Order: sequence, then C-alpha cells, then structure tokens
Amino acid sequence: MSEKIFKRYTITSALPYANGPLHIGHLAGCYIPSDIYVRYLRLQKRDVAYVCGSDEHGVAITIKAKNENISPQEVVDRYHGIMKESFKKFGISFDHYSRTSSPVHHETAGQLFKDLYNQGEFVEKETEQYYDEEAGQFLADRYIEGTCPNCGYDQAYGDQCEKCGSSLSPTDLIHPKSKLSGNTPVLKMTRHWFLDLGKYTPFLKQWILKDHAHDWKNNVLGQCRSWLEAGDGLQARSMTRDMDWGIPVPLPEAKGKVLYVWFDAPIGYISSTKEWAKEKGIDWEPYWKDQDTKLVHFIGKDNIVFHCITFPAILKTHGDFILPDNVPANEFLNLEGQKISTSRNWAVWLHEYLEEFPGQEDVLRYVLTANAPETKDNDFTWKDFQARNNNELVAVYGNFINRAVVLTHKYFQGKVPEKSSLQPIDEEVMLALQSYPDKIAQSLERYRFREALALMMDFARTGNKYLADTEPWKTIKTDRERTGTILNIALNIAANLSILSAPFLPFTAEKIKAMLGLKIFNWENAGQMDLLKAGDEINPGSLLFQKVEDSTVEKQVQKLLDSKSKNEEVQYQTDPVKPLIAFDDFTKLDLRVVTIIKAEKVKKSKKLLQLTVDTGQVKKTVLSGVAEQFEPEFLIGKQVTMLINLAPKKMAGIASEGMILMAEDAEGKFKLLTPHESTNPGSTIR
Ligand code: 2FM
Ligand code: ZN
Repeated sequence: MSEKIFKRYTITSALPYANGPLHIGHLAGCYIPSDIYVRYLRLQKRDVAYVCGSDEHGVAITIKAKNENISPQEVVDRYHGIMKESFKKFGISFDHYSRTSSPVHHETAGQLFKDLYNQGEFVEKETEQYYDEEAGQFLADRYIEGTCPNCGYDQAYGDQCEKCGSSLSPTDLIHPKSKLSGNTPVLKMTRHWFLDLGKYTPFLKQWILKDHAHDWKNNVLGQCRSWLEAGDGLQARSMTRDMDWGIPVPLPEAKGKVLYVWFDAPIGYISSTKEWAKEKGIDWEPYWKDQDTKLVHFIGKDNIVFHCITFPAILKTHGDFILPDNVPANEFLNLEGQKISTSRNWAVWLHEYLEEFPGQEDVLRYVLTANAPETKDNDFTWKDFQARNNNELVAVYGNFINRAVVLTHKYFQGKVPEKSSLQPIDEEVMLALQSYPDKIAQSLERYRFREALALMMDFARTGNKYLADTEPWKTIKTDRERTGTILNIALNIAANLSILSAPFLPFTAEKIKAMLGLKIFNWENAGQMDLLKAGDEINPGSLLFQKVEDSTVEKQVQKLLDSKSKNEEVQYQTDPVKPLIAFDDFTKLDLRVVTIIKAEKVKKSKKLLQLTVDTGQVKKTVLSGVAEQFEPEFLIGKQVTMLINLAPKKMAGIASEGMILMAEDAEGKFKLLTPHESTNPGSTIR
C-alpha cells in the first residue's frame, strides 16, 4: 500500500518549555522521530516546513523564575539559547526554531483569540477559583497540587495528574495546596473565557474515532477514546488565566489576564511557520490552510489531549485551518529503571553528552531510535547504549563501510573497480537489497521508526555478510577481476546505506557521502547498484564509530547516582515555619536534659520503647516510638532532651510521662538531641 503524496508537509514537534536544558527524554519523545521523518521527506524531494520553538509562557516558567528569584524573561532568555543549540548539535533540522515571546507569536495568538471571541465561541463566566491569600494570587494549573481524584496520587497538578494522565481542574483536587506558600487555598470569584469543548464532541468523535481509527497510533486513540467517551463528556475549559506572564487577553475588560499557555503554545507552530516563510520570501498560508498540505504533530503522550482535542477544536471552529493528518505521540522514556526527573537530576542532559561524547551524536540518535518508546514506556540504560554501539554500529555498520573503503584503496588505489561477470552470490545480494528503500519508506510513512531503523541495520548487516562471505582479501591473491567485482558491489551497497541511513544517522551519512564522493543522494535513486561507477574516485576512510569501554559506562552510571544523591540533600524541604507564639507560651514548656537509665521493648508494639529516665529529681517512664531504629542497649546511659511537663498519656497500656525530643532527617530517621558534653540530669534547657 503506498501512501498519498501531498503537495506540501507541515511538520511540528512540541514546543519545549524554556525552563531547563534538554535531556534524552525530550529527544526520544518527539524530536528524533520528527527529524527522521522530515529528513526522509526531504530525501523524497517533498516540500516541507519543519517548525518548532521554545514555549515561554505558563506556570512552568513563572515557578522557575520564582524559585531562582529572577524574572520569567531571564529564565526564558537563558534556556531558549541553550535548547536551540542542543537541537542544532544533535542534527534536529528544524526549518525554523522560534519562541512564543516573539512579536509575531503574540500577534498571531492574540488575533486567533479575537477571531474566536468575535465568532462567539467563548463562554464568559465568573467562577470560583483557588486563591492563595498569602501570595495574593490565583492558583492556576501547576501553582496548585493535591490528591488526584482518579488514582489517589498525592502530587497531582491543578491541570493534570502525571501518574494516571487524567486532565484535571484545580477544584477536582482533594486536599489542594498552594505551591507558593504551602497553604490551603481559598475560593474566590474571577472572570474567564471558556471554550465549551462539549460542543465539539460529535465532530471530534467522528474525526478521531472513526475517520482516523486505522491510521492513528493505538496509544493516541486510546487516550482520545477515554476523554470522548467519558460519562460526563468533555468539560468547558478556560482559555485565560489570572497571571502577569503571558500574552495579554486582547479584550479591554480583561486587564491583568493572559491567554492560557495551552491556548497560545500550539498556535506557536503557526507563528513559527509565518516567521520561516517570511525569511524565505514565500507565503505561509498554504502550509496551514491548503487541503493538500499534510499536517503532522509529533508530541509526547502527556500532550495528547491538547493536540487531539483542544487545538483541533480551535482550528476547526475557527474555520480557516487544516487539521492534523496524524499526531504520532510517543510514550515516556525512563532512565536506568526510573522516571527521568529534572528536579531529582535523574537525566542524561544533552549539553553534557555533547561534551563527554564529542562527535558521537549519531550514537545517541541511534540508541534512542532503536529503543524508542513508540508503543509503551521504555528504558534507556548505559549498558544498552554500549551494547548497541559496540555490537551494531562498530561491529556491523562501521566495519562494513571501513572494509569496503580501505580495501578499495589498498587494491585499487582508491578508484571504484570494474564490475565484471556476476556470481549467484552477487545477484542474490543485489536482489535482496533492492526492496529495502521501499520497505523502509513504508515503515517511516507509518511512523514506525524502530522498524525502519532495524531494516536499515539489516541492510548494513547484509553488506557486511557479503564481504565476509566473498572474502576479497583472499580472492585478491588469485583473481583481481573477481575482487574488483566484489568491491564495486560493496561500494554501491555502502553508497545506498549512506542514503538509507541519512534520516537516522545524518552526520555519519554525510561522512560516507563525502568519503565516496557521492553526487546522487536522494531516495528515488536508493536501491540502484550503479550510484558509483567504475573509475569514480573515492576518498580515504575515516573512523565512523568507536568502541564504548566498560569504564565509560561505569562512569556515567556513577555520575547519575552521585548527582542524584547530592540533589536529594539540596532538595530536602524543611517543614513550614509554624505561626509565631508569645514568649510566655515558650516558658510553659519544661525542657530538660535527662539520662536514660533503662530501655526495654514494649510487648505487642513494633515501634515503642519503654524508657526510664533520671530527671535529676525523680525517675520517669516515657514511651518513645524509636524501637525500629535503636536497640534498647544503645540508649542506656545516653543523655537526651525531654519535655518533662507534658500531661501523661497512655500508650500500649503504659502511661508516658513526657516526651523525648529528637530531630527527624530527610529520610525520616531520628537523631538524639544530646548535649555536646555530659551534664547533670535535670539541666534546664532555655
Ligand atoms: O509539554 C510541554 O513541554 C509543552 N511545552 C508542549 C507544548 S506543545 C505545543 F503545543 F506547543
Ligand atoms: Zn491520577
């Protein structure tokens, strides 16, 4: 089955938030797949606009700014450049990389909002929203955290639960807490502009669940189905926010309000296309408005609802725009068995990889594609990185190209030898390889990048095996003509390999192209065995891949563990400070140093130890919940801090006459509060 060829292609990949550097999860999620797809389209000589940019609005940015005590503008200025640079160095070949703080974007998003407003698409409502009285701010989206009503995860955000993926409103959360002050927020009235998504349900159901039932990925259809078929249907969503960072709502009555980041961000694709077209001196509109344009959004699974439901509803109801033909979303990539986490520093950062593995960008591209989370979450491990590099790229791909080039230089002074009479093994290999360009193309057209990459590697493996079977290093001793034929075929396989691998391994493909002096380089000619002709001169070989040693793997794993533990120390959050008390309140507490003179386990209690302490005047019995941590013998003789005038309380049938005070560390372990030198029991603490 061959795919329809469109007049032009608009390919987008999710605009990353400009609130931190990029890691391998970003690359694997949507940037490598989209780049492979676009490179393939370009090799097919299709007309492509590949656009992206930094997402610079929303709570992700303002929270970062607040944590670092800098302005949101400083945050986005810092990361926009770093991200753009990392993409470029990994060969992510955007035609244009914009940013949502750009004037063109402000204008475009504002205009779209106005158009919808004039069409009467918004429902203007005063509703109660959470408000942090201490911070003096409404708490939209990620400014609020609480327990997810669907799965019970206790750190769900006001807009989404990252555990179960459900999309939420702040008022859905159980036990909501402000991220700004830690306080429980109050409800306060505020006016906003809502998009009544329920209105678009019949259209969305037809378009996604029927028209695209067979060409969209199952993970995408599954999520869409669960929203579209949910009992209470799609809820109205507010497209505006009470914030001072973002695109001002273009209505006089909306002072102090900005567009919801998920309203403006996808419009960023359009703004980016506009900027690109302007630079090229062409019209942007066909790329978004002509029915013969194929629009494809590459995203991660957490963005599915916005790209399949909200944005298409906006585009459709606006009326001028085409809808995506596909939204190939990937699942998540984990790292060494754990979720990638920026805050816990559990990540492989692209800027660090670039420094530590110079010239090995294609290796990471290869590993992330071979192991892409296309249908389910997947794991990146450094061991797998090493194995794929050493056993596949070095031993098969690199070895094949190297042998073909080196032997041609050794036996034929770097000139492509004649191909004379063919043996069955030659005919077979040429026949086998002929079908690969089509097979790879079919996988790519269906967004099956792992499958396409595996086919490309099969092609390399076949070439490598051909050389191993025909042994030109032996035939040269007796049959120069036969050796020439073998190398002519091997060099043509190498030439084809460079074209077929160009979408996946662009830097390597470019090196081979230069080595072989290839002039023809497009998909149409791939599969032909005369890309190189007898007499063509080739350049000396250069190293394509190098072995990854065990020590490198160990170093990387250790680095992860080290930075994680260092980060955990910094990350430990102390309890919030309690309200002020009067000095008189403090003096009511009778705090003393006491000596533990007896310690024993309490029957039927795993946690409690019964302690007898010398308070200087009397002996007292205290129960302390530290049995899981301290052996009774360890405590005997220790001087500790105690509140001795706490009203007695019965536990496990024993009256406790006070409380031993301890410090609790980040892991919940108790530390005794012992004077720095021994003192008389009963010493007062003031
Ligand atoms: O999840 C994210 O990182 C968002 N910044 C993606 C936005 S995609 C598009 F809508 F711009
Ligand atoms: Zn949940």
